[in-house]
This record gives sequence, structure tokens and C-alpha cells, in this order.
Amino acid sequence: METVKSVETETQLNLDPIIESKIKTLLNQMTLAEKIGQLSQHNGEGFEAVAAINRRVKQGQLGSVLNQADPEIINEWQRIAVEESRLGIPLLIARDVIHGFKTVMPIPLGQAASWNPDIVERGAQIAAHESSSVGINWTFAPMVDISRDPRWGRIAESLGEDPYLCGELGAAMVRGFQGDNLSNPNSIAACVKHFCGYGASEAGRDYSSTNIPEYELHNVYLRPFKRCIDEGAASLMASFSDIDGIPATANDYLLTEILREHWKFDGLTVSDWNAVQELAVHGIAENDKDCATLAANAGIDMEMSGTSYEDYLSGLVKENLLSINQIDAMVSNVLRLKFRLGLFDNPFVDDKNAQLFGSDAALKVAQEAAQQSLVLLKNQNNLLPLSSTKKGKIAVMGPLADAPYEQLGTWIFDGDASISQSILTAMKLFQTDNLKIDFNCGLEYSRSKDTKHFNDAIKLAKNSDVAVLCLGEESILSGEAHSRACIDLPGAQIDLIKQIKATGTPIVGVILAGRSLTLTNIVDDLDAIIYAWHPGTMGGPAIAETLFGQKSPSGKLPVTLPKMVGQLPLYYSQKNTGRPPTDESVVLIDEIQQFAEQTSLGMTAFHLDAGYKPLFPFGFGLTYGEFDYSNLQLSAAQLSENSSITAKVTLANSGSHTATETVQLYIRDKVGTITRPIKELVGFQRVTLAPGEKTSVSFEITTNNLKFYTRRRQWEAEPGEFQIWIGGSSDATLSDTFSLLA
Ligand code: BGC
Repeated sequence: METVKSVETETQLNLDPIIESKIKTLLNQMTLAEKIGQLSQHNGEGFEAVAAINRRVKQGQLGSVLNQADPEIINEWQRIAVEESRLGIPLLIARDVIHGFKTVMPIPLGQAASWNPDIVERGAQIAAHESSSVGINWTFAPMVDISRDPRWGRIAESLGEDPYLCGELGAAMVRGFQGDNLSNPNSIAACVKHFCGYGASEAGRDYSSTNIPEYELHNVYLRPFKRCIDEGAASLMASFSDIDGIPATANDYLLTEILREHWKFDGLTVSDWNAVQELAVHGIAENDKDCATLAANAGIDMEMSGTSYEDYLSGLVKENLLSINQIDAMVSNVLRLKFRLGLFDNPFVDDKNAQLFGSDAALKVAQEAAQQSLVLLKNQNNLLPLSSTKKGKIAVMGPLADAPYEQLGTWIFDGDASISQSILTAMKLFQTDNLKIDFNCGLEYSRSKDTKHFNDAIKLAKNSDVAVLCLGEESILSGEAHSRACIDLPGAQIDLIKQIKATGTPIVGVILAGRSLTLTNIVDDLDAIIYAWHPGTMGGPAIAETLFGQKSPSGKLPVTLPKMVGQLPLYYSQKNTGRPPTDESVVLIDEIQQFAEQTSLGMTAFHLDAGYKPLFPFGFGLTYGEFDYSNLQLSAAQLSENSSITAKVTLANSGSHTATETVQLYIRDKVGTITRPIKELVGFQRVTLAPGEKTSVSFEITTNNLKFYTRRRQWEAEPGEFQIWIGGSSDATLSDTFSLLA
């Protein structure tokens, strides 16, 4: 890869001189073995691990532990570190607190559907409060891997396909975890991951190679990382995958040149689990010693779970394969985080704080986050909201209707299913003498092909006014190493839908999943569809209050919903190509005449069997209101370096429900030195309007919104014409143009 001249705005190191001098004092006292110990993180799970860690900590030769959440064990480790080790250096205690600790928020992809940095921040704050109370001081989140392929199981952990949305929400998580000050006892250090490009794993197969060209890397994949680092993210994790042949763990271009030299990152870098030793498995190192040499020289400060650093770093120093200055810089990054967290002042927790879990305040945030993550994809004949006052019968059905554990989603090591409230439980609370709510699961779990409940389910549907069918995937079907090649509803769910449809009872489909599933083969069978992701602890109440119209859905898709797997990767901000498709140019497979001539099919960029559009576009989501956009106005037709343009639009709710709309601003750079996306999100705002209310919504556009990594390898805006759109999805049509002056 070629050298970058400038990557976005270069930042300056902002070090605290008092902390730096304390680090220096410690470094002067430390032996090489103690220094190397700080660069290791051990797995703290299990009886033997705990005992082994006790010994290492006493020798002052361990920097961090992960995977332990028992406050007594953690306090004891910290006590040994502080009181019994020679220099009294406390430990970093890490855990994957990805979307909540005991109280579970929606999966990150669901949180992203809220398009609401505030609720995302508050969710992370709850996670930090709960996990810090047991002694955890470092989480491995946010994950800001741009994810454009829902076959990839880890899309569940991501904030979606768009660099701007992902960056804003990732930054919100950083604020939530870290608070105003890392040394606050309720703050934990964030770790932005996986640097970089992991989401581009070939065909969505986890851990697979990624091939990301230079411009794409800068303009898409690096952006959310830069945003989170500018927000103050305390640490960063390298990706398992290789990128253009160089595993991220050994990638000095990413970890040193971009991260340290250009972005001036002063935090801690950590490898992923055993990823240093996996460099040999990747085939770029012969043995563990080479692995350690490559990773340390590339810029990995701490090795997670492997032992190549503790086994080989000292030898590398002796052989001049790594300098002592490098070791000192790596150790400084570890110690700096420990000082910033205030661990040298007090690393202990009061283990009676466990009552904090699942507090009313935490459940309230979890419910709000779940409610805002719900995306209403379809609402034929205004089937929703259901009336809770009318006489009638509702059939609640499907394998995810009463699944308190499954609704929590992936990465819930500590998630407490016993406080999780299912859809059925929450809907039952709406039952009255007049409104009867009955249940039949139809299928016992999402992959089940056993149709033994079908007859009863059909009978129940026949005798009901409406069927609420809760479908989707169990939590085990998404997350790390849980990729799928077919992303239709699994098991016999499609069959169940068809059979319920045949009863003639209207169906509300509620879909709980860790990814955007392909819904083409059922979309017409469902009269209304709420996409609920894996909504977490309070998913049930959030869904029930939405179904019954106490709240309007307000979520918008943070990813494009494809029609079929063959379209992947599919995302809204594609390039125009030299042959862009249009409705007129598309001839679909069933329309092709027999013996049609080769050039008669439109000759543009589309699939004969899928066309060029997704099933639902990025940014899409209906509400119970009816939002109309009009009167787009720009304050000027020309923009120069130090000026700005205000883009204003009128938004009216002509429906009969109060609702929240996310107004989105997209821009297209019409001519660039490299090909530019057909549209890019540059702003969004959530606006709540009562029925009949209207307001004006405005965005300020400056050259910062127009900058990209250009052919000159500079982060800059190029003069010329720009088109803007404002609307309720990436399909917005209200548009205008302005130009950027040279
Ligand atoms: C995952 C990371 C995670 C780490 C620690 C790895 O397998 O890729 O995202 O933080 O494990 O549990």
C-alpha cells in the first residue's frame, strides 16, 4: 500500500504531564520481565486460571485479565497486585460487555436502527455502571466494522453499513462507556474494534480474508474508527482478518502509520484472542517467535490470551529485533490507561453493589432503546396499531414469541435471562375481559422442522381476529463464527406463515434476528412487519407497547435489506458505474423473449432475477404517523472553504398519530478525481410531530461534509457540483444542487 500523505485531520497528542512523569518513574523501576508482563492479558475463566493468575500477579508479571466477572475474585487479584507485587501495579479487567451487562440492550445493529446517539449513549452508560460494579474496567466495544454482508454473523454486533451513522453511534457508545472522565468509578474504558476491515470478510464467512482497496479503506472502513478515536476511545483492538494479504495484527501501515503517526492515538492497542500466534496459521510467520516479532513491531501493545509475548519479547530485545524503547512505549500505553482509569488510586469495588443490576432506571433505558430500534417495514391497511380497547381475540404465535433468552441476542456472557421479558408476557398485560390473548408457538424453536403444533396453531389463528407471528433466528445463529449462507427464516417458519396466511386471518410479523434476513418469500404473506432485531431484556414490553399503539415505531434500517443472497454485498452508497441501471433499462428474467438478442436486455448493472433494488432500502422505516417532505431550500447555491449552506425542508405529519421521523441528508459529489458513491449520508435528525403538526428541519453543510480521501491521497473537498437529498430514507427524492467554489 502506498504511503498516506494525510488521513483526515491530523490530531495532536494530548498527554497529561503528571501521568507521563509517573509512567516514567515506574518504567525506571521496572525489570524487563515486569515490563513484558504488563503486555500480556490472560484468560481468567476457571479455577486453574484463577490460581495461575494469582501467582503471576504476585510476581508483577501480568497486565490484564479477561473473562472474569466475580467481584470477589477480581478484588483479590487487585489486592495481590497492589499489596503483594513489587511495584503495586493494578490490573486491567476486561470483558465483552457489548450491549449490556445483566440488563441487555438491543444488539448493536438494533441500537443502530434507532439512529439515536442519545439512547445509544445511555445504553452504554448502563452497561458501564453494571459491569464496573463487579470490578470490570475495560470493555471490548464498540465494534465499528462496516458491515455490508448479512451472511456475516458479526453484523449483529455492528452498527450497520454506513460510515457516518456507524461513526456517530460508535462515538456515542464511547461517551456512554467512558463518561466525562475515565477515572469515575462508573466509567469503563472503551475498545474500538476490529481494526480494520473485518466486516469485509469474503462472502461473509467469519475470519476470512478481506480485500479492500486503498481509497475504499480510507473513505469507508477507517472513518468510524477515526470518529471514535477523536471521541477519546481509550483502546483499540486489531482484527483477526488479513487485509490485502497482511493480517491486521501484523499491519504496521494500519497500527503505526495511520493510527499513531497520523491520528496520534495515545491509547492502548490489543490483539484479538490468540491472534498474535495465529499469524503463523495465516502463514506469514514460521513460529511463535516470528509472530511476536511481527505483532510487536507492527504496533500491538498487548497480546490477548496467547503467550508469544511473554515467551519471546525478552529474547527479541536481546537480539535487537525489538528495541527497549519500543517495549517502553508499549508498556507506557498500558500504564497510561491504568492511570487514566484511576486504578492506582483505587482498583477495588464494593461487591455489595450487585443490587444495581436490572434497576428500574436500567430497564427503562433498555425498553426505550428496544422501542426505538423497531423498524416498521410494512403496514397494509393500517393493521397496526392494534386496538387494546376493542373486543376481540389476538393469537400470539411463533418460536420467538416467548423466548426470553433468545431475544437477548449474541454476546451476552452476563445477560440475565431471568429478568428478560418476552413478547407474550408483555402482551398478556393488555388482556381484558373483552380482549383475549392466546398463545401457540407453532414451532418450538426457530430452526425446528417439527410441525406437530401446526394444527393447533392454525385452529387458533382461524378463531382470532389477528395473528401476531413472532419469527426470526435464535441468538446462536448470529454473532462470532455464526455466519449463514442462506439467510431466509430457518426451520419450518416459512411453511408456518403460509399455513396461517391460508386461514385468512391478518398477520403481523414481528421478526427477531441478528442480521437483516431475506424476506422476499414471505413479505406478501405478512400484512404488517415489525423488524425487531434481537431486542434485549425489555424487548417484550417495547414490542407490546408499539403493537398496541402506545408508541409509534420510529426505527430506520441501518442496513439495506436484500431481496436475495445473490445480491450481496448490497448497500445504498454504491458507485454509479459506467452503466447505471434505471427502471427502463431493467429487463427481468420472466420478461425476456425467447431468442432475445444479446444486447436487448438493457446492458446495465443489475441481476436478471433480482433487478437492482433491495427489498427495503437503507434508512427506510414507517411510523404510525404520515410524514410529508416539501419545500427543500438551500440558503445559497455556492459554498466556499469558510462558509456554510443551510439546507431546509418542511416536514409535516399528516397522519393521525404522534410519531418520530428520522430526517436524513444525503449528498452526491457529481464529479471527483475518483468515482464517488451515488449518495452518502452526511446528517440525520429525529423529529417528533403530533398529528397535523409541521416544522422546518435544517442542516448546515460545510466543506467538512464533502471531504474524502482523494486521488491525491489527501483528505479534502474537491470543487464542483454537489447534489443533495433530504427525506426519510436513502430513496429520498426531494433534491437540489449547489457548487463548491475552487
Ligand atoms: C472476538 C473479540 C472479543 C474477544 C474477547 C474474540 O474472539 O473477536 O471481538 O472481544 O474474542 O472475547
